[in-house]
Amino acid sequence: MIDVGIIGGSGYTGGELIRLLSNHQYTNIEICTSRKFAGKKVSDVHRHLKVFLDLEFEDVSPRDLRNRCDVIFLAVPHGTSMNIVPDIMGENTKVIDLSADYRINSQTFEMLYGIKHTDKRDVTYGLPEIHPEISENHLIANPGCYPTGAILSAAPLAKSELINSVIFDSKSGITGAGVNPTHKSHYPNMAENVQPYKLTSHRHYAEIFQELSLMDESLINVNFTPHVIPSIRGILTTAHIFTNKQVSTDEIKSMYTEFYKDEPFVRVIDNIPTLSAVKGSNFCDIGFEIDVNNNRVVVISAIDNLVKGAAGQAIQNMNLMCGFDETEGLWIPAMSP
Ligand SMILES: NC(=O)c1ccc[n+]([C@@H]2O[C@H](COP(=O)([O-])OP(=O)(O)OC[C@H]3O[C@@H](n4cnc5c(N)ncnc54)[C@H](OP(=O)(O)O)[C@@H]3O)[C@@H](O)[C@H]2O)c1
Repeated sequence: MIDVGIIGGSGYTGGELIRLLSNHQYTNIEICTSRKFAGKKVSDVHRHLKVFLDLEFEDVSPRDLRNRCDVIFLAVPHGTSMNIVPDIMGENTKVIDLSADYRINSQTFEMLYGIKHTDKRDVTYGLPEIHPEISENHLIANPGCYPTGAILSAAPLAKSELINSVIFDSKSGITGAGVNPTHKSHYPNMAENVQPYKLTSHRHYAEIFQELSLMDESLINVNFTPHVIPSIRGILTTAHIFTNKQVSTDEIKSMYTEFYKDEPFVRVIDNIPTLSAVKGSNFCDIGFEIDVNNNRVVVISAIDNLVKGAAGQAIQNMNLMCGFDETEGLWIPAMSP
């Protein structure tokens, strides 16, 4: 049994970490931090967790966390983790950061996020399907939600160096923006609406590009446009992948099946993925169709942004770091419909 701490336990990904960890055989949730709700029961804030956890939020120092926990999850806004990580990294502590602070190099981070990157250290990008070395590091940068769906949709073709150019068109549920309401998330603005945003300049582009170009260093034509849709959870990505030679349906099918054959959470399916088939689960569903006239493969990936796109993937990483079965606590079907 290991003791786990969650920094930022009152937010959406923090709540999802608690929900999923309640189903994990080998973890005890030792600390959930919240500055706002310190002293209040976790289940009074996350009411769906009543009877699953008898714990109060605490506002403790990072050093205290390090002394009481074997694994610490950071579920806090970007720019926050890098001020906490230096104080919680102990010889044996394992840390999984859900924010953007360690996903990309310092120079790119400073350019995109407009703040100084103050803590450079050795990290592994925590997408287990393409980074088998996760178990070797004590600090994992959990991927962004959009990049998880985008990278998984294109990785087999990138690895085979078959991509000429790619356009990722992604639609996200509103929980992607966190627990605090905004003008965008206000019900009359969100309901029955689709909001495209940052058409060519979303920060997650850097992660997508970084990871795909590690697989194919000649790849330069990578494009990404996000949208918010009136759904609570989920990211559906349509990847228009223009290939540098003609490929057949059978070739793509066997390429994707082979690439993900040992990956329990990627399902390569024969039909078109939908959000409701992955909602609440750690699965990434992938399906595709070939447009032979244009050398275009249309790949669809569907994930739950709070699970495979955040908390579930973080637990998957913890399982690998701690030598547990990769699926421990995560082997649950979606909540369809
Ligand atoms: N939402 C998603 O789908 C998603 C997916 C992938 C990655 N992420 C990333 O995961 C992180 C958390 O996202 P989220 O959606 O859970 O955000 P959130 O709902 O806004 O929750 C963040 C929590 O962090 C705590 N916090 C804020 N500033 C802090 C500070 N300086 N020190 C300590 N705690 C602080 C807040 O709790 P108190 O005010 O109560 O302390 C808050 O509840 C973000 O970096 C986000 O980009 C989110």
